Amino acid sequence: MAEGGEWHGDYDPLADPEEQKHLLSVLDSFRSYRRAAHYNATHTRRQAFYSLPSEHWNLLASPPFSVLDSLSQLDDLIDQNAKLAEAIFKVGFRSFIAPKLDRTILFSPHAAKIGDELQIYSTILDKLGIKATPTDLDKARSCINQFYRDWSAEGASERAVVLSVVLSALAAEFPSQDRSSVKVLVPGAGLGRLVFELCAAGFATEGNELSYHALIASSLVLNHTRAVGEYTLAPFALHGSNHRSRADQFATCKIPDVHPGKALEEASKGASVHAFDRMSMTAADFCVLYGSKETEETFQAVATVFFIDTAPNVIRYVEAVKNCLVKGGLWVNIGPLLWHHADRSRGSGSHGEETKSEAQTKDAGIGEPGSVELTDQEVVKLVEHFGFVVEKHETGTTETGYIQNPRSMLLSVYRPSFWIARKK
Ligand SMILES: C[S@@+](CC[C@H](N)C(=O)[O-])C[C@H]1O[C@@H](n2cnc3c(N)ncnc32)[C@H](O)[C@@H]1O
Repeated sequence: MAEGGEWHGDYDPLADPEEQKHLLSVLDSFRSYRRAAHYNATHTRRQAFYSLPSEHWNLLASPPFSVLDSLSQLDDLIDQNAKLAEAIFKVGFRSFIAPKLDRTILFSPHAAKIGDELQIYSTILDKLGIKATPTDLDKARSCINQFYRDWSAEGASERAVVLSVVLSALAAEFPSQDRSSVKVLVPGAGLGRLVFELCAAGFATEGNELSYHALIASSLVLNHTRAVGEYTLAPFALHGSNHRSRADQFATCKIPDVHPGKALEEASKGASVHAFDRMSMTAADFCVLYGSKETEETFQAVATVFFIDTAPNVIRYVEAVKNCLVKGGLWVNIGPLLWHHADRSRGSGSHGEETKSEAQTKDAGIGEPGSVELTDQEVVKLVEHFGFVVEKHETGTTETGYIQNPRSMLLSVYRPSFWIARKK
């Protein structure tokens, strides 16, 4: 920042303008969590409350209902959640934007006057003029709640059901050998819990993610955690339906339940390769990176958890897994078939798209035209068709929620399909 309060300096965070716009929208979605949540969860509710007949809102404002006090409590919980969102914003800004900025901007007298890191980054973001899209604001909200499933003690039962079957399958396949040379890929790694667990179990683990929300949030927890329970999260507070009591609605949990750095340090004692050198994350569309020559026959195992239904065309995922696995390698999968693209507009792949060459559409990864929703049986047949032997297949033997308040009056339960397939 130069005199006069204006920002100067070269700014080129990412070469592709569209990508840059998207990244800035994601960063703004975390930065704006506090404001958006206060607006949507308490401001609009107060307005609606005061629109009730006055004798009604007066009644409900008094004990034992004290609805206005509950809204104030909700404001406090939003401020707690926002600390996590803003920590993610800072990590993202520090990783992607700050290195591209002229250092005189970050360390100028004006920046010093602004004070803390959050305010400095926030001021720069305002100057860049990109606002979060409604979709990115939604994704930031669900990403924050996802910490309940991946990184809270309270979410342990929810995640243990699925992660334990994957960890057991890989432990059975690679029982006692030094696992540091066993390369495992976790596509759609989300907030990185499985990547962390596999790494702690001794494997050389590579996570892969497409979403900046998940990439930056997982980087915060995996690389920048200072203490167990550093953040307080109220995962169910913003939604007003199906709570038995305010205590249920406002229940909080501490994030994270484990310090990843210290746990991996511990797991590295006596190991031939330190866990920090066995854990990595790639930012790419799974089909594009792992369907390519450069990753051919790289991994001994691929673990997909609540992932394959993100594919518009699941054949691309099967091809990519086959490409990156070594001969005899294992594909362990657990998840439902909530086809994520099902809401995407029908008719993609029609006329305009067809003019693209096959090579162009293949490079588009999940962006290529066309989609299909298969059943569990059809998916398994497809996996066999592409040269895998399905050694185990169970559906309905496990039940689990996904960021589910166990005390809610509405329970959504998944009965995921679990299978193990070996590349011939
Ligand atoms: C339903 S979430 C599951 C996350 C995690 N595996 C879990 O069990 O909590 C699916 C994840 O896959 C990611 N994803 C979707 N399509 C992808 C693709 N083509 N390449 C890489 N990641 C993708 C999404 O960003 C999201 O984080």
